[in-house]
Amino acid sequence: MEERKGIKYKILFVCLGNICRSPTAEGVMKSIIKENGADDLFYIDSAGINGYHTGEKADSRMRKQASKRGYDLTSRSRRIKPLTDYDDFDMVIGMDNTNIKDLKALAPSDEARSKIFKMTDFAINRSETVVPDPYYGGVDGFDLVLDILEDCCQGLFDKLK
Ligand code: 4NP
Repeated sequence: MEERKGIKYKILFVCLGNICRSPTAEGVMKSIIKENGADDLFYIDSAGINGYHTGEKADSRMRKQASKRGYDLTSRSRRIKPLTDYDDFDMVIGMDNTNIKDLKALAPSDEARSKIFKMTDFAINRSETVVPDPYYGGVDGFDLVLDILEDCCQGLFDKLK
């Protein structure tokens, strides 16, 4: 990963395919960080538990709904790299309980395990306990992902700043 001086928080968002939820978390979090002039403090990335969509842009339905709220999702899907990602990042944040179970199984050490969090644990106003997978549903599911992630990313930023 790129090394920048002065970075305080390195955060990796993780979902199953890295084409819907985690790239959106990445885009929303980067937007909040930018609005707050905190670019120098953060390094943000996202990854998938599986590599089925490696190299792909975020799902076109997700990008469409995100762009309506001003987010440009530019990341390309990649699979999590357990041997380096748990070292490189301070927080590894999953979207649902299966992600958390998988992340725990992939963690190479107790220290790595201690870096795993669930996105909804940072909610301010939302009461969902997972960010639901929108892949097989309709457009409402993609908007719900954005609603939850906007709230939880703000909560995460508030906690760290
Ligand atoms: P994501 O959504 O985990 O939020 O990126 C999914 C994307 C693709 C698949 C499942 C979930 N898939 O089965 O291909």
